[in-house]
Amino acid sequence: MRHVPVLMAEVLEGLNIHPGDNVIDCTLGDAGHAEAVLKKNAPDGKLLGIDTDPEALLSAKQFLYSSEDRTVFARSNFVHIIDIVKNTGFGPVNGILMDFGWSTPQFEQRGRGFSFSNEDEPLDMRYSKDSDQKTAAMILAEIEKEELIDIFATYGEEKLSKDIAEAIIEKRKEEAIETVKHLVDIVLAVYRKKLRTEKEVPWVGGLHPATKVFQALRIAVNEELDVIKRVLPDALEVLAPGGRLAVISFHSLEDRLVKHFFKSQQKQIRIITKKPVIASDEESRENPRSRSAKLRVVEKI
Ligand SMILES: C[S@@+](CC[C@H](N)C(=O)[O-])C[C@H]1O[C@@H](n2cnc3c(N)ncnc32)[C@H](O)[C@@H]1O
Repeated sequence: MRHVPVLMAEVLEGLNIHPGDNVIDCTLGDAGHAEAVLKKNAPDGKLLGIDTDPEALLSAKQFLYSSEDRTVFARSNFVHIIDIVKNTGFGPVNGILMDFGWSTPQFEQRGRGFSFSNEDEPLDMRYSKDSDQKTAAMILAEIEKEELIDIFATYGEEKLSKDIAEAIIEKRKEEAIETVKHLVDIVLAVYRKKLRTEKEVPWVGGLHPATKVFQALRIAVNEELDVIKRVLPDALEVLAPGGRLAVISFHSLEDRLVKHFFKSQQKQIRIITKKPVIASDEESRENPRSRSAKLRVVEKI
């Protein structure tokens, strides 16, 4: 299924795109936002679409086929935005969009191990399968207990971080934790014991007990907070005066980073969204992923 872009109208309004503007989409995905941007900046505005996932680029190229003469693609981590802009000669840059996290096909179909429902998938969790980052399985095989507790507690706000980390350390002495099912079974066993229940899945506040553990591991594997911290100043640097930067976060730690960075840059930017923009009731009903989305927009002075 094609990814449904979140906060579409709000992103377009925030970026304030005119015909002829050049826009960078740092997280191209299934190119839903990019396609809409290309309608706004027609007939001669260009789009530079960046994604680290080669499979994302392949499908984006198909979706953007009719605008291929105005589109440049870069398969890269967006932390390299300055080099990408230099190497492609793209500019002047009037708008930049970042829409963090996974796309629907990555989550559901590409065998990445992002979802606790796809039990047979390997615990990879990298956005790009051919990156030299460690997979989730590699991390689980080597990591020290305290560091694992910290990952679950910080990135997942998981209440049973310590118990789950201990169970992982015990289990890996017997066998490698390599598939989604291996990890889900460990988390379920911890929860069953803690809640003293025999239920196959002891749901916690409407969530599957493995939800937070999977989210935390994905953030750690892709060093998501670190790349956000690094890309924000570089994005402002490549933006032309009057250009806009729109950032969509899905995690409170991401949003906090973005908010603090923008506050610290008040001499060179104007904050367009005084408060983060969130999804309407209608969008939240139709697209559950939009419920945690927060959009912040600034303009370079
Ligand atoms: C939420 S999706 C974007 C969806 C897109 N806006 C759309 O309308 O279809 C996020 C995309 O960003 C990519 N991504 C995540 N982290 C990245 C990074 N550090 N560098 C480049 N791409 C990244 C993922 O591979 C994924 O395709």
